[in-house]
Amino acid sequence: MDIARTPSAPDGNPEMADAAPTPQEPVEIRREDYKPFPWLVPEIALEFDLGLEATRVVSTLTVTRNAKADASPTIRLNGDTLEPLSVQVDGEMASDWSMDGDDLIIPLAGETHELRITTQINPSENTTLMGLYASEGMLCTQCEAEGFRRITFFPDRPDVLSTYRVRMSGSKAQFPVLLCNGNLEAQGEGEDGMHWAEWHDPWPKPSYLFALVAGDLVANSDSFTTCGGREVALNIYVREGDLERTGHAMESLKKSMRWDEEVFGREYDLDLFNIVAVSDFNMGAMENKGLNVFNTKYVLADPETATDGDFDGVEGVIAHEYFHNWSGNRVTCRDWFQLSLKEGFTVLRDQLFSQDMGSAPVKRIEDVRVLRGAQFPEDGGPLAHPIRPDSYREISNFYTATVYNKGAEVIRMMRSMCGEGRFRAGTDLYFDRHDGEAATCEDFIKAMEDGAGLDLSQFRLWYSQAGTPKVSVKLEHAGDTATLHLSQEVPPTPGQPDKQPMPIPLRVALYDVDSQKHNGEQLVTLNESQESFSFSGYSKTPILSINRGFTAPVVIEREVSQSDLVFLAAHDDDPFARYEALQDLIVGHLKAAVAGDLSDTAKRAGEEAITGAVAAILADDALDDLMRGELLVLPSEGYLAETMLVADPAAIHAERSALRAAIASALEDDFVALHQRASAVAYDLSAEARGARKVKTQALIYLAAGNPDRAKAIAAEQYKNADNMTDRQGALMVLAGLDGFERTSALMDFYNRYQGNALVIDKWFSLQSMSMHPDALEHVKALAEHPQFTLKNPNRVRALYMGFAVNPQAFHAESGEGYRMIADLILALDPINPQTAARFVTPLGRWRRIEPKRSALMKAELERIAAAGNLSRDTSEQVSRSLG
Ligand code: TRP
Ligand code: ZN
Repeated sequence: MDIARTPSAPDGNPEMADAAPTPQEPVEIRREDYKPFPWLVPEIALEFDLGLEATRVVSTLTVTRNAKADASPTIRLNGDTLEPLSVQVDGEMASDWSMDGDDLIIPLAGETHELRITTQINPSENTTLMGLYASEGMLCTQCEAEGFRRITFFPDRPDVLSTYRVRMSGSKAQFPVLLCNGNLEAQGEGEDGMHWAEWHDPWPKPSYLFALVAGDLVANSDSFTTCGGREVALNIYVREGDLERTGHAMESLKKSMRWDEEVFGREYDLDLFNIVAVSDFNMGAMENKGLNVFNTKYVLADPETATDGDFDGVEGVIAHEYFHNWSGNRVTCRDWFQLSLKEGFTVLRDQLFSQDMGSAPVKRIEDVRVLRGAQFPEDGGPLAHPIRPDSYREISNFYTATVYNKGAEVIRMMRSMCGEGRFRAGTDLYFDRHDGEAATCEDFIKAMEDGAGLDLSQFRLWYSQAGTPKVSVKLEHAGDTATLHLSQEVPPTPGQPDKQPMPIPLRVALYDVDSQKHNGEQLVTLNESQESFSFSGYSKTPILSINRGFTAPVVIEREVSQSDLVFLAAHDDDPFARYEALQDLIVGHLKAAVAGDLSDTAKRAGEEAITGAVAAILADDALDDLMRGELLVLPSEGYLAETMLVADPAAIHAERSALRAAIASALEDDFVALHQRASAVAYDLSAEARGARKVKTQALIYLAAGNPDRAKAIAAEQYKNADNMTDRQGALMVLAGLDGFERTSALMDFYNRYQGNALVIDKWFSLQSMSMHPDALEHVKALAEHPQFTLKNPNRVRALYMGFAVNPQAFHAESGEGYRMIADLILALDPINPQTAARFVTPLGRWRRIEPKRSALMKAELERIAAAGNLSRDTSEQVSRSLG
């Protein structure tokens, strides 16, 4: 489809296109306006008459007045693109109902009533992938955050908890498998090839956790016995041909279930746990009670089609959704401002799980890299918000790296401050106290104070203040005492000009220069804007290692010599700190180079220091290859840009490429030797073999910068001999960035080899859009016309356009064409899938932090989007905040 020439999609969702003919005042939802719902809905019974084009839904609600809320003469039931076909109250047809916008208002006089409402939906036309929709012939739902109101009228808010009884019926040929939350209680055959199933979920839940799936699916079935002796049937449902790629997901699920028992004392609470994989999905996966729905990307994996990174992704997301059963489902959120209560906590839980399953230090480095790459830019841009936001227009826009990843860091700090044992006491108390409730972040904090014995009064600021704190560090030495001077500054963010100092826990160690050892690390907590800490017993100035393990999500600013960083990069016994020292060394050098602050001699000296540190890492036999591979990754251009007030993407790209080329030329033979050594390791999933594959591709990336012809030959060989996707993708990635016959033929081979496997074809798109090739932008333009490209599938859209948007060299083309392409995409995608469209506003929103010429071009594209009519609430909120 031609996005560049189709500013508005002709085949968009007609419901969306017709909506809001006159621009409506944006409605701001505010946290302080929270009021409990006037009615309780203890029970809901749903009947689904399933059809791809028409599904009829009859909903029966038992409602009773909420004694803890203000009384109301009516009940407001949320709807979205719904029409009530009939409304009954206590068995009688009602006619006194009315619509207020999308909501249904029914007058109710008594204490308790039964409401019966009929709606009809067209799942095939639902391209938003929210509510009930069709995906490759199957029907499935996505209700978080506000999708249930696209199915039936209901108080669609997380603090209304009900038990669900669901009867679903449909054609047995079309939908042989009928799934819903909870337990299957009855099933049977009807007339004319119809069949039905009745499901009951005994656990009260909010509507966002409802799910239903109907389709032609097969299951990988297994079982798990919980610590309490409950036998749980496990099923992973996929399309027929995908069954053989579900083994890793099943293993990951069983490991997650065991780990949550052992580490958090959480046992599963139903006899059945189902997972369904869907190819059209807006996010990674969804934790619906007893029926998790997954993006195929996070279920399917085998060595032939999935990289080591993909295997980790599956393991992490399976764990994440499973862990939500307690942190999210048993204890849910009072309102969507509390989203981090479940997401931040669950991300921390999945991170800790993955640390335990593999290499803990490598996992920590990867998590910090994600935080810096995705969350720091949020904190430093127009969309900055606290982990517990104060207001929103469209909640889908707040499923952010801030709420998820910074949210996890904030809870991790609590854990660092009290230690594992007390942390467990705190989470035990939290689960115990709030089981079955819709809780708040404040409830979590309080449980941590009471259970873990922490005083978090000042620490609460981490929930309310946005922005990444900057900590300035100075180490002074006199006599036998080293004094650490720390000061902090939380930068102003939109709506929050003035900030208060927050408690910042930092693990530190002081290295004695002679023995090259430290005598134990300490946790210091900076509470004030300025504080000093003294350490005695140092006759010479020690070398400071700070924020070890990345105890606090802050930026450390300090004057430190290159030689100290070289020392730490070689000797720090905290793996994260070692990584950090090398990163600091490189970032410091590149910032100075980009600013034009380096003489030729200084530049060469910097390159030599970095090359020396890289050489030491290549030669260090004590390092495992997984960690070696991690240490070899250069800071990304995006992260470098983030460390500068105003960035020139072209200069960053040039300097970073030059440094890589310098390292690669100096160490060419070492990289070739590393590649050869690693290539001798046979494929398996052990840490050793995974490490070998990681350094192999890192070596190729360096070689491509230092000696492209040699790299091309080795990469072509690696591609040809690959017996797994990690090697094949790594080689193809390097080839895609270079010119020549090898590039074309490998890309063609890859496409032909994996035609029909959507997830691998996604890789084919993203390898090209993310490539280092100077013509990447032209390639993306051509790929948008490819018959396999479609705006209807979010994975495909992300593969092509997110890959492009994070490729600075292509996206920031001087002409502004990259910005125009993303703006055209947003306008074309918005009527089809507003949630996914809105995610593409962020890269353009960085305009204030980019050099003036590009900045003006970016802003102009945002203004062009803003001027277009009929924008979704999702996109218009992001665009107006980005311009604001
Ligand atoms: N709760 C899901 C998770 O983090 C997120 C999610 C899945 C979601 N699908 C969504 C959020 C659609 C918003 C819209 O595990
Ligand atoms: Zn989640």
